[in-house]
Amino acid sequence: MGYYAPFPHPAVALEDVSVRLGGLQILDSVSIAAPRGAVTGLIGPNGAGKTTVFNVMSGFVPADSGSVVLNGQHVHHVRPQQLTRRGVARTLQGVGLFPSLTVLDNVMMGAPTRFGVIADALAMPWVDRERRQMEERAREALVSLGIEGESSRLPSELPYPVQKRVALARALVSDPSVLLLDEPAGGIGEADMQDLERLIRSSVPDRTVVLVEHHMELVMAVCDFIWVLDAGQVIASGTPDQIRSDPAVLAAYLGEEGAA
Ligand SMILES: Nc1ncnc2c1ncn2[C@@H]1O[C@H](COP(=O)(O)OP(=O)(O)OP(=O)(O)O)[C@@H](O)[C@H]1O
Ligand SMILES: [Mg+2]
Repeated sequence: MGYYAPFPHPAVALEDVSVRLGGLQILDSVSIAAPRGAVTGLIGPNGAGKTTVFNVMSGFVPADSGSVVLNGQHVHHVRPQQLTRRGVARTLQGVGLFPSLTVLDNVMMGAPTRFGVIADALAMPWVDRERRQMEERAREALVSLGIEGESSRLPSELPYPVQKRVALARALVSDPSVLLLDEPAGGIGEADMQDLERLIRSSVPDRTVVLVEHHMELVMAVCDFIWVLDAGQVIASGTPDQIRSDPAVLAAYLGEEGAA
């Protein structure tokens, strides 16, 4: 596979993945790879298929053909509920928080559990212990994002950028080795942007980060390597400098502006 040439042992990859949804070809033989311990960008115009790539990587959408590498392993059937155990966490485009749960409970939803709902329902004593540990980890995640004071609020009571921090805390609470971020910069201001940039930079090399983002300044500042999707196909890949001056990329984005 050509794309393996620069990254022979990717942490995360799609190999020739195609997806059809609602009679449309959403991904068409997409091959992309993210090297371990680096920040890899995935960019492209609206509707290019970026979120679908994450949905395939995390098992929300099955690939019609092709295969997935997740945290260094070929995975034939990705199960969303096993992501945390595989060391993978993702944020959703927007915020994707549970509206009726407090901030703390939302973050705890991202923590790995060993015993599951049955032990929970039977109120086994070790479940209590696990719950306390999860709560402690969730509180630490909130502290690391500077929002520990909001733990008992509901998401709707908080400004959007704070909700985005809660979503990040929920992804980080499992201490994932692979972090998939879907538009983390959407709807946040300059100060939050700087914190986000620092968070992404300081995630590597301990974590592998894949960043879907429209905010080009952030993408160019933090990514080691970038893949560009347009209409379900990879149209370019390279370093930020290469991507910045790639005629196919410029054309894809100009096409989007022309259509808007
Ligand atoms: N379940 C579905 N059924 C039919 N079409 C879908 C479905 N999910 C996504 N699509 C379509 O697939 C295409 C790619 O969607 P996707 O959300 O992956 O794009 P994206 O690159 O993340 O865009 P954006 O930058 O706007 O978030 C779009 O045309 C979208 O309408
Ligand atoms: Mg998207």
